[in-house]
Amino acid sequence: MFRRCELAPSAPRPAIPFASGVLTSARHHRFVPRVLLLMPSATYRAPDFLEAARALDVEVVVGCEEPQALSGLMGTRALRLPLDDPDAAAKAIVEHDSLTPLDAIVAVDDQGAVAAAAASELLGLHHNPPRAVAATRDKLAMRALLAQHEVPQPAYGTIPAGARPAEVALAVKTVGLPCVVKPTTLSASQGVLRADSLEGAAAVAQRVRRIAIGAGVDPEAPLLVERFVPGQEVALEGLLDDGALDVLAVFDKPDPLDGPAFEETIYVTPSRLTHRDIEAVVDATRKATRALGLREGPLHAELRLRDARAWVIEVAARTIGGLCSRALAFSTGRTLEQLVLAHAIGSPMGPLQREDRASGVLMLPIPRAGTLLGVEGVSRALAVPGVSDVQITIAPGREVVPVPEGNRYLGFVFARAKRPADAETALRRALSLLEVRIEG
Ligand SMILES: Nc1ncnc2c1ncn2[C@@H]1O[C@H](COP(=O)(O)OP(=O)(O)O)[C@@H](O)[C@H]1O
Ligand SMILES: [Mg+2]
Repeated sequence: MFRRCELAPSAPRPAIPFASGVLTSARHHRFVPRVLLLMPSATYRAPDFLEAARALDVEVVVGCEEPQALSGLMGTRALRLPLDDPDAAAKAIVEHDSLTPLDAIVAVDDQGAVAAAAASELLGLHHNPPRAVAATRDKLAMRALLAQHEVPQPAYGTIPAGARPAEVALAVKTVGLPCVVKPTTLSASQGVLRADSLEGAAAVAQRVRRIAIGAGVDPEAPLLVERFVPGQEVALEGLLDDGALDVLAVFDKPDPLDGPAFEETIYVTPSRLTHRDIEAVVDATRKATRALGLREGPLHAELRLRDARAWVIEVAARTIGGLCSRALAFSTGRTLEQLVLAHAIGSPMGPLQREDRASGVLMLPIPRAGTLLGVEGVSRALAVPGVSDVQITIAPGREVVPVPEGNRYLGFVFARAKRPADAETALRRALSLLEVRIEG
């Protein structure tokens, strides 16, 4: 998403050196490139992107709904933007650009992704087509495009608003049981539930509807129902550059994700899948990005392996969520956020090789609803060989709600080891030493 610099689409990108004092912004003849980072108020991603910008000597303007709600922004220029209204946000960004020209616009999370693409298009910055990004933000639109391009994915259908149990049963029968019911626009497994029977599906649909409405989803929007795909799930982190996908990492999710709710726990990379399976994952992801029309920037894809085929669960035009990107380190010493920013401003990214060691992250689940009193045992968990960090991200005294009603995690544990199995063992040992205290 960098200024296109009047190049033909297939022309090589201009290399923009980073060293201070070098003219770095080809279009505006400034010394330091300026990037607008779109940040929803509830983002986990602010510190890591701001740190990456500092490391790369990139000037940052933060675009967010409530600048005062974001911590760690001291001294950073902020622009108030309605991220839930991409057209209005894009218009405000264009106005801002006329006074303070931007070199790139990067959404740090899902919520700003469409606004970033729309504004980039208006400003002539390198970008994903807004329609492609919009399709990643609407699971039904995504399924339709993937189906059109014959990308392997579960059978799917819709449950309209106000559907009676018989209508739910009909939708479920067409995809088959077991099935998964989900809202089309939420994330972090919020409102995603499995159903194993026709009667169960009606109750599940009601619960998903309640969660969706509670999370602000249009009550008239249909729910998505999909055939449940059994099998191992993986996540692929990639970076698209002029339509070509670089695979940065494939994470195994070694805990079975069989439902009824789909709370994520452990991610470990490199994947222990066979070469053939990984190729199937990469191939399906490439097909999915082409089907959606994504061309630039970070990509997070989730797939399941069944019968030696990779089935696309979801593709998002963003980096991995939460603090999970801290599980990735690259041989050049760059972070994922640095790579994303370098790509966005058209600076060379260098080799995209991950570090030699295996690495993993554990998302600490919320065991039940109530008031968080605290998480004990952090220093014991930190002392586990291989554990590199423990971050508790919810303060004591806060109400906590588990998935599927909730969409937050208590925190994140990181481990590094020679082999993926050892990183996983370290994470499990750390988890066994953490005691979550919840009242109420
Ligand atoms: N059709 C499906 N088959 C099997 N598991 C699924 C299916 N759909 C969703 N899941 C599980 O639920 C999780 C969350 O669903 P997803 O569609 O990715 O929504 P979200 O945007 O909330 O992450 C997935 O990572 C996967 O584990
Ligand atoms: Mg997902």
